[in-house]
Amino acid sequence: MRLLVTGGCGFIGTNFIYLMTERHPDWQIFNLDKLTYAGNRKNLLKLEKENNPGYTFLHGDICDKKYVTSVLHDYKIDAVINFAAESHVDRSINDPAPFLTTNTLGAQNMLECARQAGIEKFVHVSTDEVYGTLGPSDPAFTERNPLEPNSPYSASKAGADLMARAYFETYKFPVTITRCSNNYGPYQFPEKLIPLMFIKASSNENLPIYGDGSNIRDWIYVDDHCTGVELTLLKGRPGQAYNFGGAAEKTNLELVRELLAILGKDESLITYVKDRPGHDMRYAMDFSLAEKELGFSPAMTFEQGIRKTVEWYRDNCEWLEDVRSGAYREFMDHWYGERK
Ligand code: NAD
Ligand code: TYD
Repeated sequence: MRLLVTGGCGFIGTNFIYLMTERHPDWQIFNLDKLTYAGNRKNLLKLEKENNPGYTFLHGDICDKKYVTSVLHDYKIDAVINFAAESHVDRSINDPAPFLTTNTLGAQNMLECARQAGIEKFVHVSTDEVYGTLGPSDPAFTERNPLEPNSPYSASKAGADLMARAYFETYKFPVTITRCSNNYGPYQFPEKLIPLMFIKASSNENLPIYGDGSNIRDWIYVDDHCTGVELTLLKGRPGQAYNFGGAAEKTNLELVRELLAILGKDESLITYVKDRPGHDMRYAMDFSLAEKELGFSPAMTFEQGIRKTVEWYRDNCEWLEDVRSGAYREFMDHWYGERK
């Protein structure tokens, strides 16, 4: 298979490309990435250095119609997976415009270029956040829940999901959507909860918990999400959306306490800061459709996954230092400065 992956230099894309080069050495993977603050070409340098014939990096923007079209033709692409996105909710609150540009308009551009090129499989990677929020005793989201996004990030992702639906209904374009809960694991940019708390706890800094820490997320180890995307590519029904989750619901406070225990740090580091505006209370995923149709189930328990993740961050301090550039610090100082 000649597979175009977008956003492959980000957290999930990097893990996905490593897994797929291991599992499918006969695939040709083309990674189209704009290299925003969240994209790091060095993540996959190992594959470039090995001169791996199955991996090619392409520097470009998913919004660029001419470039995407030439990539689809020149590399004779069979299938597309669209991971590329602006992915951080807090940044979307600070400045929604780039989210609309990449997540909605960029996704539509990918759909259109792929449709015109006659691509026969297109997986659009979305998120559980498009469903909005749940109360403590609500049933988990199914694919039949309405899309009720609450943040500029989730609204921009929902816009793309609706466009994907329209491409299937209108043009019979073979697009399948994945919606997954919160991922964690190696290479996650340290603005997200787990790597951020790891860095702060490791240097005995205060850990900023939004509100009272009772918000609930379902956590999935990144490789399990990647397996879900792989199964969707191989077996997903065109026009269908599939939910993926880790069956590991936790309040943010529970999660941070577990992390502190693994790191051997004191809970007195926890500090409560001003809440995120529009902060979704709870996400939970019913992924029975993916179990039934794709044979998906999460392989990693949270307890195993979080230990593996901590180990990776401990062994990769240089990576952390590398990605915490000037732009990183600028946003963090601004955002957390306002939350004190
Ligand atoms: P990330 O922010 O770590 O990486 C995003 C990547 O996309 C980066 O490499 C960046 O350079 C690239 N990119 C951004 N704009 C681009 C553009 N215009 N053209 C080309 N490349 C561009 O994100 P992630 O956490 O790896 O998320 C990947 C996908 O999975 C996103 O679509 C996100 O919405 C979705 N998702 C993420 C999670 C999660 O917990 N992280 C959960 C569910 C779904
Ligand atoms: P995050 O990793 O940003 O993912 P998302 O908002 O997409 O779920 O946040 C996970 C949860 O952790 C969310 O409820 C917000 C909370 N959070 C904090 O309490 N403090 C922080 O510094 C961050 C980044 C997140």
